Amino acid sequence: MTQPGQKILAVVLAAGQGTRLRSSLPKVLHPAAGRPMLDWVLRAARSAGCEDIAVVIGHGAEKVREVFSGEEVTWVLQEEQKGTGHALAQAESAVSEPGVMLVLSGDVPLVSAATMKQLLAAAQMGWAAMAVADLDDPGSLGRVVTGPDGKLERIVEAAESSPEELAIGRVNAGLYALPTPGIFEFLRALKPDNVKGELYLTDALNAAAQQGKPIRLVELADPTESWGVNDRADLGRAHRALLHRHAEGLMQVGVSILDPESTTIEAAVSVGPDTVVHPGASLLGNTSIGEGCTLEQGVWLRDVSVGDGTRIAPYSVLEGADIAARCQIGPFARLRPGAVVAEGAKVGNFVEIKNSELGKGVKVNHLAYIGDAVVGEGSNIGAGVVTCNYDGRQKSPTRIGRRVFVGSDTMLVAPLDIGDEAMTAAGSVVSKDVPAGSLAVERSKQRNIANWARRFRRRKGK
Ligand code: UD1
Ligand code: CA
Repeated sequence: MTQPGQKILAVVLAAGQGTRLRSSLPKVLHPAAGRPMLDWVLRAARSAGCEDIAVVIGHGAEKVREVFSGEEVTWVLQEEQKGTGHALAQAESAVSEPGVMLVLSGDVPLVSAATMKQLLAAAQMGWAAMAVADLDDPGSLGRVVTGPDGKLERIVEAAESSPEELAIGRVNAGLYALPTPGIFEFLRALKPDNVKGELYLTDALNAAAQQGKPIRLVELADPTESWGVNDRADLGRAHRALLHRHAEGLMQVGVSILDPESTTIEAAVSVGPDTVVHPGASLLGNTSIGEGCTLEQGVWLRDVSVGDGTRIAPYSVLEGADIAARCQIGPFARLRPGAVVAEGAKVGNFVEIKNSELGKGVKVNHLAYIGDAVVGEGSNIGAGVVTCNYDGRQKSPTRIGRRVFVGSDTMLVAPLDIGDEAMTAAGSVVSKDVPAGSLAVERSKQRNIANWARRFRRRKGK
């Protein structure tokens, strides 16, 4: 039995192919709410205090190891996937100390740390413990048959259930606390005499129950924790449930999410209090949002950091950008990786910024492309300005000083340096450096031909 202070051990079964997902990606790598399913299980196990974690892998083992290369776990290879009982049996040598171990499923991503602790505590009061839930739609999960005394009689797989058994709403969540080495004796006796021809871990529990070993049923307070993922519909449900959970947590710390159903805020995203998130927003990856921000309808952000009090207007698309406090972005702004926007700057509609720094209070309000540029504090970039950063072979930088006024429709042919407080005349193609305080004009002199337009119209009869 686990003693206080003894290390908590978990074995995660993650070797299955998950054929019903019909995917080239190993099942446990499929993301839900922005994290691979297996990641969810490992995080919960760590926060339950598990120090030793063994993960049984097989199908796509190399890919799984690669994705989790930074993780301190013991990898156990199940070369042929002969069922959950066979999978756990492979971990026997990784489980050295006698006691109780958690056995978790890599495709049951909603499991909480609290449930794991409950399972461990319940196993102390019997021989083993398993999590069960009562579901309205138990689907393909194994059904838990209990006797009149409420004790486990047996677990039966959905595919092998009689109509009466299928009508049972009580399911096996695939989360257990099992005695070691005790359980391994039962695993050795397993036979593949079932429709799948597999060695079922559940049959080991059935055999133990039949021998009168007390197996505690831990009823999940939150039945969604039992949602196993076997197909894409299950995956979609788990994804939404995990998003919902994260949104609830954010709302509790003071974030307004106007329409949680239409909003996607992935698990690693942080949002400060008094920020308001409008419908249809997607906040993805390692995005962090400050306090008191407004993220309006349909904004899409991945790996973006946003300072306090910034407003991002509808349908702006930002990736890998760093926005300081009190900025105004959008509507319809496009910020690409390496866009760094200092405090109080404004980036307006149909403006694209790539790998560029905009200083404090800079304004780029309409229809511009700024790439590989540095724009000094207080400068104004007019409508239609383009940094011509690419000559077909290489990218070149544009440096714009402080309080510069770049007139509308200026083409800035890089490499180019524009000094502080300089100006460019609208419509100029500027290809030579502009000294501080100067005006750059590059356009032909205007001629007005008297009455030309009038004569033209008359001739055409218009
Ligand atoms: C299993 C349980 C079922 C339970 C459900 C909970 C058995 C026989 N059935 O069914 O009672 O309701 O989980 O979600 O245990 N795995 C391996 N190696 C294998 C086979 C599976 O590591 O050879 C792993 C899978 O990667 C998966 C987990 O074990 O993470 C469960 O396997 P799966 O085939 O999905 O079992 P279910 O049919 O869902
Ligand atoms: Ca499953």
